[in-house]
Amino acid sequence: MDYIKEFEELLSNSTKEANEASTLEELANVRIKYLSKKGLISVMINKIREVEDKKAFGEAFKNCKDSLEAILNSKQEVFQKAKINEELLKEKIDITLNGRDFHEGNINPFFKIIREIEDIFIGMGYTIEDGPEVEKDHYNFELLNIPSDHPARDMQDSFYIDETTLLRTHTSPVQARVMEKNQNKPVKIICPGKVFRRDDDDMTHSHQFAQVEGLVIDKNINMGNLKATLELFVKKMFGEKREIRLRSSYFPFTEPSVEVDISCMNCNGKGCSMCKGTGWIEILGAGMVNPKVLEMSGYDSNVYSGFAFGIGIERVAMLRYGIDDIRRFYQNDIRFLNSFVKKVED
Ligand code: DAH
Repeated sequence: MDYIKEFEELLSNSTKEANEASTLEELANVRIKYLSKKGLISVMINKIREVEDKKAFGEAFKNCKDSLEAILNSKQEVFQKAKINEELLKEKIDITLNGRDFHEGNINPFFKIIREIEDIFIGMGYTIEDGPEVEKDHYNFELLNIPSDHPARDMQDSFYIDETTLLRTHTSPVQARVMEKNQNKPVKIICPGKVFRRDDDDMTHSHQFAQVEGLVIDKNINMGNLKATLELFVKKMFGEKREIRLRSSYFPFTEPSVEVDISCMNCNGKGCSMCKGTGWIEILGAGMVNPKVLEMSGYDSNVYSGFAFGIGIERVAMLRYGIDDIRRFYQNDIRFLNSFVKKVED
């Protein structure tokens, strides 16, 4: 029964060595030493020839071999896991992508000016109106005291859809529409919008541009109200230092009519190339609503009076931001729009 002891010894030695192994390699060496073909446990099988109870020997052999194998396997698993974890830690891969650049949008200078104009007038109690861009001759001309044979029509030739329908040449038809809607009630509105004219396209002219129409109707409205309103608008838009000047002019729908100039922001009124040496820059047309226009739209001109004005939006934007060519507003050139952002924030 010596072999039992031998097996016990082999198992205890090999187990001890396995427990002492601290790397996979050392563990593999233990396996080779005891369980390879010529390993110390494997070769024990040869002794089976010398024993009588071959079954008991076989069992003891198997038991010894299986026990060591189990120990080696479990330890190997622990080592492998540790090794994998160690490798994983070392091989940490950054799977995130760089963030994408975020391009912040900004408001186009054209719309920025419209918003500013709206804010100024809303602050004075005005409401915003809208009107059609495809307009009837009736509103665009007739109700504004520009009958079909009137020479003022020549200045506002436009794109006709048919005999009586055209792309509106100014925002003034909104005056007639608003009066028609309000019938003998006070009115205080502005209306920004696109207008169209047959025109050469150059640095200061475009076949399409934009205006803001203003209309105030109430009892006892006078020229002083108009002047005070426009002065306030100009100071808010171009700075407190700006002065205004009213020059007498002519529009069929206003009586009296004026052109409004502001003191040049470039030379402060001294005279420079921007104001052509005059110290003044023209920015809008205005006047007291012609009583004929009030009457045509159903207002009693003995009770009501009003003033109106029409401002060129691009012109205001060009003066405000120092833009040299009206066509830049429509070309959608990103370089222009980007350079403008800096300019506004300066
Ligand atoms: N409609 C005029 C134009 O396009 C501008 C204008 C002048 C509008 C005087 C008005 C006004 O309301 O009172 O040239």
